[in-house]
Amino acid sequence: MADQWARFGLDLHLRVDREHGLRDGLEQSLREAIRDGRLTPGERLPSSRALAQELGVARGTVSQVYEQLAAEGYLAARPRSGMLVAPRPGPAPGPAMPPAPSFRTPVDGHDLRPGMPDLSMFPRREWLAATRQVLQSVPHGTFGYSDPAGHAELREALADYLGRARGVITTPEHLVVCAGYTHALRIVCQALSRAGSAIAFEDPTLPDYPALAEVAGLRVNRIAVDRDGLIVDDLGDEVAAVVTPAHQFPLGVTLSPRRRIRLLDWARRTGAVVLEDDYDGEFRYDRQPVGALQGLAPDHVVYAGTVSKTVAPALRIAWLVVPTKLLPAVREVLRFEETHVNVIDQLALAHLIRRGELDRHLRRCRTRYRHRRDRLGQAVADRLPGARLSGIAAGLHAVLHPPGRFRSESELLARLTAHGVAVDGLGSFYHRPGDSPLGVVIGYATPPQHAYDSAVDALISLLDIL
Ligand SMILES: Cc1ncc(COP(=O)(O)O)c(C=O)c1O
Repeated sequence: MADQWARFGLDLHLRVDREHGLRDGLEQSLREAIRDGRLTPGERLPSSRALAQELGVARGTVSQVYEQLAAEGYLAARPRSGMLVAPRPGPAPGPAMPPAPSFRTPVDGHDLRPGMPDLSMFPRREWLAATRQVLQSVPHGTFGYSDPAGHAELREALADYLGRARGVITTPEHLVVCAGYTHALRIVCQALSRAGSAIAFEDPTLPDYPALAEVAGLRVNRIAVDRDGLIVDDLGDEVAAVVTPAHQFPLGVTLSPRRRIRLLDWARRTGAVVLEDDYDGEFRYDRQPVGALQGLAPDHVVYAGTVSKTVAPALRIAWLVVPTKLLPAVREVLRFEETHVNVIDQLALAHLIRRGELDRHLRRCRTRYRHRRDRLGQAVADRLPGARLSGIAAGLHAVLHPPGRFRSESELLARLTAHGVAVDGLGSFYHRPGDSPLGVVIGYATPPQHAYDSAVDALISLLDIL
């Protein structure tokens, strides 16, 4: 039961919950009124006698409440003034707040930035059913601490799934469940980090990844990418090379068969590992999927996958398949690793995989994304003579090289942004933006279905008339 007071001399609305006794209720509501600023520092409270009368309680009850709040520092007794709301110390002066870490802020208008699946396709019903099933069936012990490498059931389900869907050769013991690819990359970098060691990244790439490797203590070498993928012959004495062989990010090219062989030769010869980022390997449209590199050399390739493109980034679930020689170092990193994926979510994903729900979901997504890619390709072919679309055989993004009349990427992006179309400039993925050909990266999976056609129309019209 709750009593409401509009006023006790002050113009204050207090809601006193009597459920745990009037004393506790009054104490709580006064505390809240001070915390949320309805009672401000210096404000005078009614005398304990007046408030007791108003509430119809013993004066001693109100006095006890006042004493308690004074002891906690919310109130201060002043001679001749009675009880006042105590001054509140402001935050200590110090260095300015650091900038918030970057993550994708929503945009007004048409969002065609790469890196997102269509979030409206999240399999809500299936995920709910899987979670319910998990909660109903797991033994109590599941709610305790669990293996930092991931729950055995998910590792088993993933080992089967990756073998079947991506040609990965592994056992559950080689799998490590991570909170997203970024986390997976950090674990690998930490496991490899030795004074002076270098790691190779493709150029272009997502800039956060080499930055993360540097923070982990590795030197970063950038290796250019051409139409056959990473220029493997430029690799040297690095301890690892991070590649996106199925669909290079962001250019979208596939690592050619010849380069695949040469890359694995390099790893065998030097003892380095290849970190295969198979971020969108499930999406291939025009021909048979390109199997994982890992399947050709499981002892030399660390395979990384994620649900961020197939299900949703919010789940923060990814995995590593670690070659035997690197397992001790990875386990050592995991000993002190506090970032784990919620076990209930791990088991829900295992359930979806085992029931074939993930495959069904992927089939729905593939159909939708293929249509979108075709729609984009058609619009460019019909309406943008001189423009070229590349990287379209797979994945969720393509690179649009606009017609020759555009002078610079910044000019192009500024005008698209001004008209409410968000894409990423290709230059932002190059170590030296000047090395970048003129182009924009288009995430055709990003908008919800109902907004896709208008987003493509807006993009094409702007490039058409500029
Ligand atoms: C190249 C690349 N790798 C991996 C990922 C997946 O990252 P995460 O699993 O941390 O969401 C992305 C997502 O945008 C990506 O673009």
